[in-house]
Amino acid sequence: MGQKIDGKVSVVHGAGEDVVSINVPKRMLDGVCRGQRYINEFLRCKCAPDLLALGLFPNGKEITESFALYNAVRQHLWRRFPPNRDETLFSVGDGVTPRAAAIFAFRTDWTCYSFDPKLRMDCPFPCKRLHLVPQRFEHSGVARDITPDIVVLQHAHISVEQVVKSCGAGHYAVVSMPCCTKETFPYPPDVCYRDPSVWSPKNEIQVWRNIYTTVTDGQKLSRKEQNP
Ligand SMILES: C[S@@+](CC[C@H](N)C(=O)[O-])C[C@H]1O[C@@H](n2cnc3c(N)ncnc32)[C@H](O)[C@@H]1O
Repeated sequence: MGQKIDGKVSVVHGAGEDVVSINVPKRMLDGVCRGQRYINEFLRCKCAPDLLALGLFPNGKEITESFALYNAVRQHLWRRFPPNRDETLFSVGDGVTPRAAAIFAFRTDWTCYSFDPKLRMDCPFPCKRLHLVPQRFEHSGVARDITPDIVVLQHAHISVEQVVKSCGAGHYAVVSMPCCTKETFPYPPDVCYRDPSVWSPKNEIQVWRNIYTTVTDGQKLSRKEQNP
């Protein structure tokens, strides 16, 4: 069954073929345009040919998810972590290809680490600042030697609490788009919103700006912000 379009339908009888015109309500068109937002942004990226050549994304849905994480960092964390500074990003549970980590490595000057036991190591990644770690995050030992500035979790099957246990309660930010993993981290995020431009019902974005202050100021109440 197709979706019901509740606009006006008019048929104009011409000399040849009849023309059917459908007057679609503006709110529906707004929804469609919003849904295209990250695909349009991807097409405008200088790095899009490189990302496509690497075969990082199996479909448009994955592009919208990774770009939504990038957008969350841009909206809520860039003042503290500017894209042109030497920051360190961990992308945990990245998938078989380093999707989110590659986007940050190509679009910022940051050093990016992609963690996932399923990471395929068979293709060379032409970006010096992208490091692949094909292990479970907590077993890799990387967090013992390197302190991240930002940790991103795109539908990762690891909780924020497990990540914080491995990294310690330092001054880093966490951005998570959770899926089915039960979250046991007891502190609410500073920012929490649904991003309608993600092509998945699992489109909630949570931002902890600073894990150290979150944990030391444990009484902090949840504050919801809308994505501008
Ligand atoms: C649903 S997939 C999401 C993959 C990718 N981020 C995406 O959105 O398409 C969850 C991923 O989390 C990874 N994962 C589960 N536990 C992990 C851990 N402890 N450390 C790193 N990755 C983990 C799995 O291997 C899997 O690739």
